[in-house]
Amino acid sequence: MDNRPIGIFDSGIGGISILNELFKELKNEQFIYLADNKNCPYGNKSKKIITELSIKNCKELIKLDCKIIVIACNTSTTNSIESLRKIFNCPIIGIEPGIKPAILETKTKKIGVLATKKTLSSDIFCKTQYANNREKIKIYEQPGFGLVESLEKGVKVKSIIFKQKLHQYLFPMIEKNIDHLVLGCTHYNFLKDEIKKIIGNKITIVDSIIPVVNQTKKILNEFNLSSGKTTHGSVKLFYNSKKIPKDFINEIFKIERKEF
Ligand code: DGL
Repeated sequence: MDNRPIGIFDSGIGGISILNELFKELKNEQFIYLADNKNCPYGNKSKKIITELSIKNCKELIKLDCKIIVIACNTSTTNSIESLRKIFNCPIIGIEPGIKPAILETKTKKIGVLATKKTLSSDIFCKTQYANNREKIKIYEQPGFGLVESLEKGVKVKSIIFKQKLHQYLFPMIEKNIDHLVLGCTHYNFLKDEIKKIIGNKITIVDSIIPVVNQTKKILNEFNLSSGKTTHGSVKLFYNSKKIPKDFINEIFKIERKEF
């Protein structure tokens, strides 16, 4: 048993889509979430910078006495998880685009991946594709330029900006007859309804939320790190920019600005 908090980080609000599910599933756990929105977006930074920022976030979570770290950011995971696991002793769980399930389930043998530029160009993403794509499934990659920035600015998901951008990014993949769309950035989970309006119900969206929750549960059990508390857990969310958009934040979370 271990009553210390679970640490989570992302470049901003995207990882809240993971945090929400973890909070629902692990009812007695305490969570600390870092939104590094001062440095957002990560998706067009170099691997070196993304790794430095990820190390900084992990150090902060360790300082805050976290027992495990969940990287709720595909860009950070695919560019830095190997380095983070060498530096830090605590278990680290990452999130990667779910291309494996999409490859296994596609009937048209064509899938699409919407992710940040740096996730799509990362070694981990390329290796996963190579290792799982024995049947030569066609994978169409599309960077979601500008989507993260607009979400962080607080642009409403139903706004014309998202409609236009999503249409521009998704239409070429729909035309290629994909039957699975992998969302490879945690921010895009908040755009699911808008994405569905464009792709319709013949294309299945694949996100990695449930696999991350299951892996977190597994690690807590394996290392005997589950909370011994019987009371309901809580979430402390820290951000380091001037402000943070509140649309996706559960009102029972405690929010605070902090330097990190
Ligand atoms: N939420 C992120 C991800 O999953 C980060 C996006 C960014 O900062 O560019 O990749």
